[in-house]
Amino acid sequence: MGLQGPKTAEWFERAKHALVNGVSSGWRHWGDDDTLVLARGDGAYVYDSDGKQYIDYHNGFGPVILGHGHPAVVEAVTKAVAAGTTFAFTQEREVSAAETVKAAVPWIEQLRFTNTGTEATMHALRLARGYTGRDIIVKFEGNYHGAHDYVLYSTPSSPVEALGSRFRPVPAPTTSGIPDGVVTVVRTLPYNDLEAAERLFADEGRRIAGVIVEPMLGNVMGIQPREGFLEGLRRLCDTYGSILIFDEVKTGFRIAVGGAAEAYGVIPDVACFAKALGNGVPVAAIGGRGPVLDGWRDGGIAQMGTYCGNGVAVAAAEATVGELLTGKPLARLERVGRALMEGTAKILADRGVDAFVLGKPGMFGFYFGESAPHDYRGTADHDADLYEKLTMAMIRRGVLPHPDALEPWFPNAALSDEDVATTLMVFEESLDEALGR
Ligand SMILES: Cc1ncc(COP(=O)(O)O)c(C=O)c1O
Repeated sequence: MGLQGPKTAEWFERAKHALVNGVSSGWRHWGDDDTLVLARGDGAYVYDSDGKQYIDYHNGFGPVILGHGHPAVVEAVTKAVAAGTTFAFTQEREVSAAETVKAAVPWIEQLRFTNTGTEATMHALRLARGYTGRDIIVKFEGNYHGAHDYVLYSTPSSPVEALGSRFRPVPAPTTSGIPDGVVTVVRTLPYNDLEAAERLFADEGRRIAGVIVEPMLGNVMGIQPREGFLEGLRRLCDTYGSILIFDEVKTGFRIAVGGAAEAYGVIPDVACFAKALGNGVPVAAIGGRGPVLDGWRDGGIAQMGTYCGNGVAVAAAEATVGELLTGKPLARLERVGRALMEGTAKILADRGVDAFVLGKPGMFGFYFGESAPHDYRGTADHDADLYEKLTMAMIRRGVLPHPDALEPWFPNAALSDEDVATTLMVFEESLDEALGR
């Protein structure tokens, strides 16, 4: 039985005629019977075209942090639309939004707004290269940084078997269509393996422009950095004059108001934010500190975009971050997220399933296997089949995590204690169904 009710199926049929595979982004196609068409969202819930309600833990791959249609964001965006959105001049709203972001992430000296995470990481890499005059970018396996060529190697969509030896990793392309030459300036490393990073720097450190890292693996189950890993990257970049870039697109404003830099106490040179920055409205930012920003000030390194800093985007950012700065939404996430992590772990343990609930209350994932992974390679034995059966059974019962075995759950702050109780009940029933009990 597919996930679509009759009206949803009708809409998806129309979608398939107008949109390639019925979707606007590749990963949204869950198959012809299972791809949902949603009509609206409200607080902790989304509703499909049949009016079926789901408690939402997908939240658009993480952006919706306050809840769907949060009143403060709706009001700010509505006012911004009415006032004209795109001038390609600095606007007052943009200035106050930037000040609000700086208040939330105090290590940032200055920033630029962009529109998506992809755009932010693309500009951050160019800034690192332009500033250092070097070519090589280091990225970590299982890290996803967006859809541009330089970062589409050894992502969570590249099979673990394609990554090569841990001692000589092979950058494994995620897609056809990347020019051959790109791989010559990309190095991939196992996440959480500081010795591997040290070996690479010893070989090629003076050619490395920058290291880009998801400080916590927002695209692989919420795996956390080992103690000393981020500090070690900081030290290597300082020693070799390379730029440390945190991709905070998923962690930013979610695992702490000040993101991973606050949560783990390591300060990068540059960081990219998107997702939770706008509670679902497309907006991103690249923040930085120190002399690397001279690269942009001089004008010699290109960063531009018609819609960068547009009124809707920055209004959403100011309203969202303003709410987060009250401390209340993340306190709520901490409470509901912890209850979900602990509750699901207990249900799994009671049934004798070997499992680990990884991550932090604002972003957590599940590994079904005997020993907890510390990197993407370590997930190879994950019982993805069981995870998919479990999550599909949950979705049929009206609770919506993403069924991708690597994707974390993203709770939003509109979740009630009752929603958490319902989720745990559904998790339990669905697990029994998946286990055939
Ligand atoms: C860590 C990380 N960086 C960058 C991106 C790209 O962001 P966008 O989809 O807004 O281009 C994503 C998207 O999921 C992400 O998870």
